Amino acid sequence: MSDPDARETWRIALLHGPNLGQLGRRPSAHYGTLTLRELEDRVRGWGAERGMRVGCFQSDDPGAFVQHVHGLAGIVDGAVVNPGAWTHYQWSIRDALELLGAPFVEVHLSDVEAREPHRRISVVRDVAAGAVWGRGPDGYRDALDLLSGRLA
Ligand code: DQA
Repeated sequence: MSDPDARETWRIALLHGPNLGQLGRRPSAHYGTLTLRELEDRVRGWGAERGMRVGCFQSDDPGAFVQHVHGLAGIVDGAVVNPGAWTHYQWSIRDALELLGAPFVEVHLSDVEAREPHRRISVVRDVAAGAVWGRGPDGYRDALDLLSGRLA
């Protein structure tokens, strides 16, 4: 007999790096018009539809971000991470994410492949379970679907 309480709710971290707390004020052609709060609410809703509880964190400080990721090890089943500009050069973020011990998907609102050459570089990609870019907020839903496939 199956136990209805046995079905796990996946614990997912939604992590944003620098300047993403300013969404809504950043160039809308790249980043749209949603505030971070609105984006987080949307992702929480998509998560709930997929049996995921989404906890949100944003920091402009790499040390605070690294420490937060350390604290998530063993606590979360997966993560969706938009490291912002750190994506392109911040090796300490890559090394912290490697220690997460759970799959994460790298997300970018804008089409980083079609912008300045430095945005095509990702130092976190080799430890990510997947990457989504250029899909605006919907890219986060795609990332949850990728995680769902990994966690199932
Ligand atoms: C970004 C792309 C980065 O190049 C940029 O520095 C950001 C946001 C994105 O979501 O498109 O801050 O990660």
